[in-house]
Amino acid sequence: MAGEPGGGRAQVGGPMRERLRGLRGIPVFAGEIPAFDPDTAPDDPVELFTRWLDHALGAGVPEPHVMNLATADAANRVASRFLILKDVGPNGWSFATGSASPKGRDLDANPHAALACYWPRVGRQIRIAGTVAPESPRTGAADFLARSPDARAEALVGGQSAPMASVGEHERELAEARERVDADPSLVAPEWTLYTLRPDYVEFWQGSRDRNHVRLRYTAAGEGRWQRALLRP
Ligand SMILES: Cc1cc2nc3c(=O)[nH]c(=O)nc-3n(C[C@H](O)[C@H](O)[C@H](O)COP(=O)(O)O)c2cc1C
Repeated sequence: MAGEPGGGRAQVGGPMRERLRGLRGIPVFAGEIPAFDPDTAPDDPVELFTRWLDHALGAGVPEPHVMNLATADAANRVASRFLILKDVGPNGWSFATGSASPKGRDLDANPHAALACYWPRVGRQIRIAGTVAPESPRTGAADFLARSPDARAEALVGGQSAPMASVGEHERELAEARERVDADPSLVAPEWTLYTLRPDYVEFWQGSRDRNHVRLRYTAAGEGRWQRALLRP
């Protein structure tokens, strides 16, 4: 915390300590906790995820399609960020990004990755791990063309996560890209890629206010079969 007002070593015990006490007072699992009986869970974790997502939408969970994606580069340096779930089906969980972005480069060097969602209103967490592969360029292009013109223009500018000289310069690049999108609505950013994470681990975590959380783990057992286990909270 050095460099922040009130932060740094000398301040511990002062205002920082007060703020941390405040953190402990924030309630967790404060929402409507639904029942989850693992005995009634389906054989396939994708089916259970779909049920939970449907339930989250019905329960008004905000943005339940936002997930955290963790990747690691060739030197095992880990990075994570949030992105949008584009689809889920028998092949796994799909998301889209530029292949030249840091996460795209990580996935190119190391296909192992993990996803996590947390839905506070229903106290549910889902953890997914497996290997990621790009879908065909045609599928990536279809995803790209389904994006809003502004989102397409931003992706056409490219260079995601690279430092930029100034906001003004970027706005000029964006305006120029937006003109290209408007002039040719079939224009596709060549780096835009739909990736699918094929899972070998999926865990459903139902929080409980008494901390007796229910955890159901699915591990891939080959040929599309899954092994299930209950985990200690
Ligand atoms: C709610 C939310 C949704 C996002 N969705 C996406 C997405 O679908 N694709 C994407 O490339 N970045 C998305 N981002 C931005 C990423 O979190 C990240 O900043 C960006 O992709 C650069 O990541 P990287 O440097 O690790 O490649 C989203 C961010 C937030 C907060």
